[in-house]
Amino acid sequence: MESSYAEERKKLYQAIIEDPTGIRSQEWYTKNAELYEQQHKNHDFMYHKECMEIFKKTVSQKDCKVIDFAMGTGVMGEMLRKMASKQQTGPREHKDRRREAPKTPLSISARSNEDAGRSRRQRHLLLLSSSKEGNVRKSFSKKSLTRQLRNEGYTGQLDGMDRNPSMLKFAKAKGIYTNIWTVDIGPEKIKEIDDDSYDNGVVAGSVGRGQVEFNSLSTMIRAIKTGGYLFITMSQFHTQYEEFTIKALENLCDKWNAEGLCHLVQCVEGMHTSTAGGYVFVLRRGSKEQ
Ligand SMILES: C[S@@+](CC[C@H](N)C(=O)[O-])C[C@H]1O[C@@H](n2cnc3c(N)ncnc32)[C@H](O)[C@@H]1O
Repeated sequence: MESSYAEERKKLYQAIIEDPTGIRSQEWYTKNAELYEQQHKNHDFMYHKECMEIFKKTVSQKDCKVIDFAMGTGVMGEMLRKMASKQQTGPREHKDRRREAPKTPLSISARSNEDAGRSRRQRHLLLLSSSKEGNVRKSFSKKSLTRQLRNEGYTGQLDGMDRNPSMLKFAKAKGIYTNIWTVDIGPEKIKEIDDDSYDNGVVAGSVGRGQVEFNSLSTMIRAIKTGGYLFITMSQFHTQYEEFTIKALENLCDKWNAEGLCHLVQCVEGMHTSTAGGYVFVLRRGSKEQ
């Protein structure tokens, strides 16, 4: 089953390369929604754990109201809720094996020269992570990250949306979201939700060519209250396209900051899967000066 999933994923990337409109990738999600739901956990994805790790470090309010954009089958919501139920049975002791490295003055983290000598395996265990708005580099083992993610549950209202009804069928069945909408997220206002109505949001594994565009982040961040965060992950694969480079994101964020909409708090380079690089971007509602 796992190997058939890996084979199917190659077809998804082929669809993304050949069709920037997203029609073919949507056909893929419709055909493979069940396989996605069954195999996501067994696949070597890292992005969702890295995103949650940064979410957890940034958001201390456990009952915050969260919106999950391009939610698919609800993997992110499930992670939030699973953490919550573990917490209710009492926190487990664990040894924190992470070590802090010197702070860098950079707002954008990237692999350093020091990393160049690391093996691919070592590199995938290295997360360039950050404390709230200052950068701190931390390394961790895959196991310890999973342990850290337990006992850190979020209990507030969860809503979500996605354009694919087949994926949403699985998200609905989980019973963890209050509202789920079928929405094709573009740069225009999302009429299903009010501005300034969520404490925080996530857009995981869905930003890139043929999926959610950088431009559309502006409409999603409008739904977040001033001071709240939007956590975004993107596979490094998409940076080969001009409109998905880090520079393109920075330029948009500079414009949005000047308009008072939001600013880029972090751009963390990590791993999308155990073999493919990825990023976690954190946008904060309101301009930097506020
Ligand atoms: C790789 S899945 C990720 C789903 C989920 N966030 C997760 O981490 O498992 C990508 C999802 O993005 C959705 N998607 C892509 N483009 C979209 C758009 N413009 N509007 C809404 N959903 C979109 C797809 O339908 C698919 O369910």
